[in-house]
Amino acid sequence: MESEMLRILAIYGSPRRKGNTSLLLKRAVQGAIEAGGQVEEVVLRDLNMSPCLEIYGCKQTGRCVIQDDFQKVYEQILSCHGLMLASPIFFYAVSAHTKILMDRCQSLWTKRYWLEETPTGKREARRKGLFISVGATKGKRLFDGALLSVRYFFDALDVELWRSLLYRGLDLEGDVLRHPEFLEEAYRAGKALVH
Ligand SMILES: Cc1cc2nc3c(=O)[nH]c(=O)nc-3n(C[C@H](O)[C@H](O)[C@H](O)COP(=O)(O)O)c2cc1C
Repeated sequence: MESEMLRILAIYGSPRRKGNTSLLLKRAVQGAIEAGGQVEEVVLRDLNMSPCLEIYGCKQTGRCVIQDDFQKVYEQILSCHGLMLASPIFFYAVSAHTKILMDRCQSLWTKRYWLEETPTGKREARRKGLFISVGATKGKRLFDGALLSVRYFFDALDVELWRSLLYRGLDLEGDVLRHPEFLEEAYRAGKALVH
């Protein structure tokens, strides 16, 4: 039934439309659709989104008071059943586009921990999240910074970091196309997220 379809939100965090993380997320989206999911895609670089201004206008209602494209994404985040986020590694962190979204979701953190008074780290997340990331280098700790951010970001959204697909040694646009096994893994993860 249409109304019972699983809604997945797919967030593209790279400034490159056809970059490595975008190609991987696209495959995950295909997997989710083929598994019967309904996918909404958000391309952060196309949105007009201010960084968090730390004015805590969200303190009363849990809603951010800055009126820009974040307002729609906020609704999409609240109503989805599962989340997919893709970001390249920029200086051992997520991209600036992704970080802006994360910081705006402080409104959800406020809602969860101040307004609803959820004990920190006590409640089990209701939804699953997939994180996809890529970096050019090959160091052991390449994804450490981003993973820490994503884990706590997801927590504020009531999302569990269910799976992360992390690929090293990919730099130029489309480098990932030389690794069909990575794209296949993303496809299967998208499918599994819906199942
Ligand atoms: C501003 C900037 C910072 C970057 N910092 C890192 C880094 O710290 N470590 C790394 O391995 N690669 C770094 N890279 C390379 C990207 O992670 C790499 O090109 C990746 O494939 C980009 O993914 P995308 O095509 O999805 O945007 C950086 C690239 C840019 C543009």
